[in-house]
Amino acid sequence: MSETNRQWLLKTRPVGTIGPEHFELVESPLPTPDLGAGQVLVKTLMLGFDPAMRGWVMDEPSYLPPVALGAPMRASGVGQVVRSENPDLPVGALVQGLLNWQEYSIGDPAALIAPTAIPAGVPPNLALGIFGTTSLTAYFGLLDVGQPQAGETVLVSGAAGATGSVVAQIARLKGCRVVGIAGGAEKCQWLVEACKVDAVIDYKSEDLDKRIGELCPNGVNVFFDNVGGDTLEAGINHMADFGRIVLCGAIASYNDETPRPGPNNLMKLVARRIRMQGFIVLDYLARAPEAIAALGEWVAAGELAWRDDVQEGFEHIPATLQRLFDGRNTGKQMLKVADPE
Ligand SMILES: NC(=O)c1ccc[n+]([C@@H]2O[C@H](COP(=O)([O-])OP(=O)(O)OC[C@H]3O[C@@H](n4cnc5c(N)ncnc54)[C@H](OP(=O)(O)O)[C@@H]3O)[C@@H](O)[C@H]2O)c1
Repeated sequence: MSETNRQWLLKTRPVGTIGPEHFELVESPLPTPDLGAGQVLVKTLMLGFDPAMRGWVMDEPSYLPPVALGAPMRASGVGQVVRSENPDLPVGALVQGLLNWQEYSIGDPAALIAPTAIPAGVPPNLALGIFGTTSLTAYFGLLDVGQPQAGETVLVSGAAGATGSVVAQIARLKGCRVVGIAGGAEKCQWLVEACKVDAVIDYKSEDLDKRIGELCPNGVNVFFDNVGGDTLEAGINHMADFGRIVLCGAIASYNDETPRPGPNNLMKLVARRIRMQGFIVLDYLARAPEAIAALGEWVAAGELAWRDDVQEGFEHIPATLQRLFDGRNTGKQMLKVADPE
């Protein structure tokens, strides 16, 4: 085991686009205290990247406290237990949780998101990807918040991403007609051929508002929005009466320097009796087994397609986060730090 712990610390809070310049790579001594009861020392194997990380570095109240300046950047990950004072998480076990941008971390059962064991045989990429938080977000956001009914039309933005692609496929599996919005021909083609969505809109080359109207002549019953901004405004324009808008995220605005104006058509929500609701997946963690069981059945039946985008190199961690914001990621963004021992 290494005696040092490389870490990426938050150096400054970004204004505008987040980048490697906001982080500092340091080498610290390995955290080797006497572990307390229930604690484990975890070696990071794979890190997950989430657009929400852009919000976590802002010094403002949110659903999680801001990452402190000088602290390792908060991040989800999969690791291997290398020392243990926890009989449920023995040495060698694979765990997932908030491991942060560092090679080693101490997992504490009292932490906000304590490390949990990964079922035997599930590799890190699947634990973080198709069985990870983004899929839980898709499952609960679509089914609990969106409440789609068979035969309804579901519109999904960010549809080729980790969350959006699972939303689109669950909607299809529930008997809905699915229209996906994504950037670029390659992602649109993957949505049609692998995810079997009914129609796609390439927002980078097509008139989004016009195409939603053409593809959803009877209106959109559920709009699962990952993008916000102009995309949200266009979706609102085409909602059917009593439709539901699931506010999952607004990635188009995460790097804005100043708040952008809100949708200019909110009165349509009144006229069409639309429910628009945000949600945070953390509120559903107690029900994770339900989602994972359903996802497992769909995976075993060959009903779900997904893509893992696995980068490599500890030094490339901050640059990898940027891939989410310029759409270079194809599927769940991850970075491999080490192999299991
Ligand atoms: N509410 C929750 O609890 C929760 C939990 C997880 C994630 N989320 C949200 O879900 C969304 C997707 O997250 P993810 O982790 O699954 O990432 P992802 O969709 O795999 O990757 C992000 C994608 O966003 C698209 N994008 C980036 N900038 C854009 C822009 N300016 N306009 C339009 N699209 C843009 C890109 O796709 P294109 O190439 O197609 O542009 C990019 O690939 C985010 O908004 C995230 O904050 C919410």
